[in-house]
Amino acid sequence: MEHLRWDGDRLIVLDQRYLPEKVKYVECKTVEDVAKAIKDMVVRGAPLIGISAAYGLVLARIKNQNLEEASYLLKAARPTAVNLAWAVDEFLRREKSGRDPKEIAEELFLEDLKTNKAIGENGTEVVPPNARVLTHCNAGALATAGFGTALGVIRRAKAKIKMVYADETRPYLQGSRLTAWELAEDDIPVTVIADNMAGYLMKQGKVDLVIVGADRIAKNGDTANKIGTYSLAVLAHSHGIPFYVAAPSTTFDFSIDNGTQIPIEERSSKELAEFNGIKLISDKCQVYNPAFDVTPHRFITGIITERGILRAPYSVYLKRLLGN
Ligand code: MRU
Repeated sequence: MEHLRWDGDRLIVLDQRYLPEKVKYVECKTVEDVAKAIKDMVVRGAPLIGISAAYGLVLARIKNQNLEEASYLLKAARPTAVNLAWAVDEFLRREKSGRDPKEIAEELFLEDLKTNKAIGENGTEVVPPNARVLTHCNAGALATAGFGTALGVIRRAKAKIKMVYADETRPYLQGSRLTAWELAEDDIPVTVIADNMAGYLMKQGKVDLVIVGADRIAKNGDTANKIGTYSLAVLAHSHGIPFYVAAPSTTFDFSIDNGTQIPIEERSSKELAEFNGIKLISDKCQVYNPAFDVTPHRFITGIITERGILRAPYSVYLKRLLGN
């Protein structure tokens, strides 16, 4: 399904808030519309919000707006995924030479697609025959230009997959609404579980490996991803199950040494306190809703990138593989 399209003078995006129940599209005619779509989770997933932001800058250019202000607006929409800031800065860098803005945004889209296919190719070696894989959130085609990162590995290794367990991923349900839907559409066997069932499945010997995406990776390999990833990594470690992160090199933040420096987005309490407009929690209670957590590098077996698989010590591997 097409989830992002340029249509003459506007960006059309699939509204991921309504999947799989409804297929609705949102039209973005201004950079403000794009920033709102990113903030409100119409579009989501680290690489996709970056690509959307690049198209936001195209709109700002068309309307002769100040690109610096537009960049600030876009980068502020969501703080954790470094791909957003990376795509904005990369767009501006390529645009300096006077190139057509739309062509640059398209180029970033196609580069991400190519990157995901390479991640899938590189990651297939970590998937054993008849694999039962657990994943969290949605690091699929919907979160990227296409194919996906964690789901890219699963897609590429389809012939070896016995079952994918998709964590429901509270509170936003990206796992049950998006990942399970994507995999089922591709005829990949998928079972949805509530997040709190993962440990029990591991104890029963039903999980061979875990693969998740990432929103920002520090120089030492500490990785921010959807809230709940850290608990999964600790569980996997304790059960001796390999835990892999699949991410493009644009998810590495070379300006930070470790995960404590990663900004964690806090979202509205409503995401937890309400479901489809129905109140689940008394107004007298406080609610805490961090959208991401950081998994320390020692719990990560390997980071699958488009250039190969990084393993500990990550800083050494990073230098070798990514030249940083
Ligand atoms: O809040 P979301 O849905 O944007 O969070 C998405 C994730 O955490 C993904 O795992 C991550 O962005 C990687 S997507 C290839």
